[in-house]
Amino acid sequence: MSAQSKQQGGERIRAFRASILHFVDDPDDLGEGAHQYFEDGLLVLRDGRVAELGEAGALLARLPPDAAMIDYTGKLILPGFIDTHIHYPQTDIIASYGEQLLEWLERYTFPTERRFADPLHARAVADFFLEELLRNGTTTALVFATVHKESVDAIFEAAAARGMCLLAGKVMMDRNCPDFLRDTAESSYDDSKALIEKWHHRGRLRYAVTPRFAPTSTERQLELAGKLLDEHPDVYLQSHVAENKGEVAWVAELYPWSRSYLDVYDRFGLLRQRAVYAHCIHLDERDRERMAGTGTAMSFCPTSNLFLGSGLFDLSGARDKKVRVGIGTDVGGGTSFSMFRTLDEAYKVLQLSGQKLSAFKAFYLATLGSARALYLDGEIGNFAPGKEGDFVVLDPGATPLLARRMENTATVAERLFVLMMLADDRSVYATHIMGQPAYIRPAAPIA
Ligand code: GUN
Ligand code: ZN
Repeated sequence: MSAQSKQQGGERIRAFRASILHFVDDPDDLGEGAHQYFEDGLLVLRDGRVAELGEAGALLARLPPDAAMIDYTGKLILPGFIDTHIHYPQTDIIASYGEQLLEWLERYTFPTERRFADPLHARAVADFFLEELLRNGTTTALVFATVHKESVDAIFEAAAARGMCLLAGKVMMDRNCPDFLRDTAESSYDDSKALIEKWHHRGRLRYAVTPRFAPTSTERQLELAGKLLDEHPDVYLQSHVAENKGEVAWVAELYPWSRSYLDVYDRFGLLRQRAVYAHCIHLDERDRERMAGTGTAMSFCPTSNLFLGSGLFDLSGARDKKVRVGIGTDVGGGTSFSMFRTLDEAYKVLQLSGQKLSAFKAFYLATLGSARALYLDGEIGNFAPGKEGDFVVLDPGATPLLARRMENTATVAERLFVLMMLADDRSVYATHIMGQPAYIRPAAPIA
């Protein structure tokens, strides 16, 4: 019986054979014990969720005869990548020349976000954006929409159509921005509340209250963002903090009573579990302690921090205080949808301040670490039994250089490091959502 006909007959078990790697903990805490690697592994899913993981030799004999077998021998399976900070409306301005944050927002970002008042435009960009995530092996993201509530409908409808676990929210922005993108404190509260009721926990979707950053919100708007969180305790919050020195100075002028930029958010109850702040570069020790103490997460966005000239994220400073850290592309301030390109630049950012990022730690950050930052590690992030079966299938020899360099490796750690430095979307052979293929790399055309 073919896999196709079993599916039509209500197939329940699918088994994927490949080399398989995942993390059960942070390599900084558990060393070698933090990952499991099966050279000839089998990942068994039942109804899209992980049933078993182990050596193929041991597990194959126990498979029921009607299980569907998918043979990815020679490939490497990892849990789907998780992007903890990205803006879907900025897809069309990725790679825009010459500015740092505040001028970049005025010159490129705000004009392109204006177009998302049109639901057809929003849906077309949302579809492209999600295909791009999947082409890069990213199966979950925490996503900024725009100030328009239609832009949130578009991204959630597109994610639901693909069965993706996705978090998103309407930007709240009631000052210091063009009129055409401005809401009011009250309208942003009402619109966000309606969107929470419509989308939060619909299937695999989650809502994130989204004040853009302190400079574009009045105190009343930040207060109402806190009220939304109090009224819906398992809803998320996403924003930006301490990205750029000019931005930090502006926040000090706008909120003269604040001890620090982060303190502004603290004052309005916006530091808590399920709150995720992008960048977190220009912070001090007290800020990091406060983030750790409240369960607030940082999103490390290296390609953006280099591209916009923002500064160097301090991973060991975050670790010393035990702050949750995830990884983010921050497209379109970031310059790639690829988690490989992002980890590559994370490595280089840390090199510039004398810190090291091992390949194990890097791929932990892109999977279980980001799931923990999002408080989604009960559902995604690794292949523990019962987790949702989102994964990426990598082709370790996708380019001539990768194939050649892989020949010259001796350990899994080395092979992962080579992927982290040299791979990109060409290395993504397939991406699966709840076990089902959501992207398959097109075959090379026959000459
Ligand atoms: N701060 C406020 N808005 C933005 C944005 O869209 N991108 C980045 N990188 N930083 C921001
Ligand atoms: Zn951002």
